[in-house]
Amino acid sequence: MIEFKTKEEIKRIKESGKILHDALQAVKGSVKPGIKTIELNEIFERFVLDSKAIPACKGYNGFPTGLCISVNDEIVHGIPGERILEEGDVVSCDACVLYNGWFSDSTFTIIVGHPKRDIDMKLVEITEQAFYIGIEQARVGKRIGDVSYAIQKFVEDNGFSVVREYAGHGIGKKMHEDPPVPNFGRPGRGPLIREGLCIAVEPMVCEGKPNLFIEENRWTAKTVDGLNAAHFEHTICIGNNGPEILTA
Ligand code: MF3
Ligand code: CO
Repeated sequence: MIEFKTKEEIKRIKESGKILHDALQAVKGSVKPGIKTIELNEIFERFVLDSKAIPACKGYNGFPTGLCISVNDEIVHGIPGERILEEGDVVSCDACVLYNGWFSDSTFTIIVGHPKRDIDMKLVEITEQAFYIGIEQARVGKRIGDVSYAIQKFVEDNGFSVVREYAGHGIGKKMHEDPPVPNFGRPGRGPLIREGLCIAVEPMVCEGKPNLFIEENRWTAKTVDGLNAAHFEHTICIGNNGPEILTA
């Protein structure tokens, strides 16, 4: 069941989202060759805890850290550790914050130092643009399938592919709520978008084929073909004036 939010509730999610945004900015500013992914996680967790909020991925179904860091052929749910980031790595940082009972969820992808390949830059740009093209469809009276289709079409028109196994989702009192928001679909299908809908929209885009497997750690999804992936996400709400980003 979809829980539509009141203006008061959306304000709360926005407070959560502000902390998440600022924490991710601190992480982004620290991404450079030579840094360990666990150090980025520490920066994130410290920022969130200092803001009297909770890094909500930590402990979620046993996930060990507040930040998910997925590098190169890792698509999602990479686990921070002793890995040292190198020039040209494609790094996605994905996290959720719980503040005052409300969740927010956001992801950015960045290239460490100078890009190694032009296609990596294109991959990151197309993934971010796919998000904005998707949320352009997130309007009262449209359907979730309109968002999904717009993302898929844009990504595929640019020669990349979308992941099928993971999707965006409703968000609020819980990290994952109805409705699912896939990154592929058909226009005019799926749940109707009404005022007060809050969703995380999160295109996960592969340079090559979207086929994935889960690593030994039982979390990290990687591309089967070994080519790179990128991920971009914001929590948004839909009002009568259109979509609003709550994690910016
Ligand atoms: N942003 C991810 C999602 O929407 C975060 C999951 S938290 C994890 O699913 F613990 F599962 F990594
Ligand atoms: Co999410």
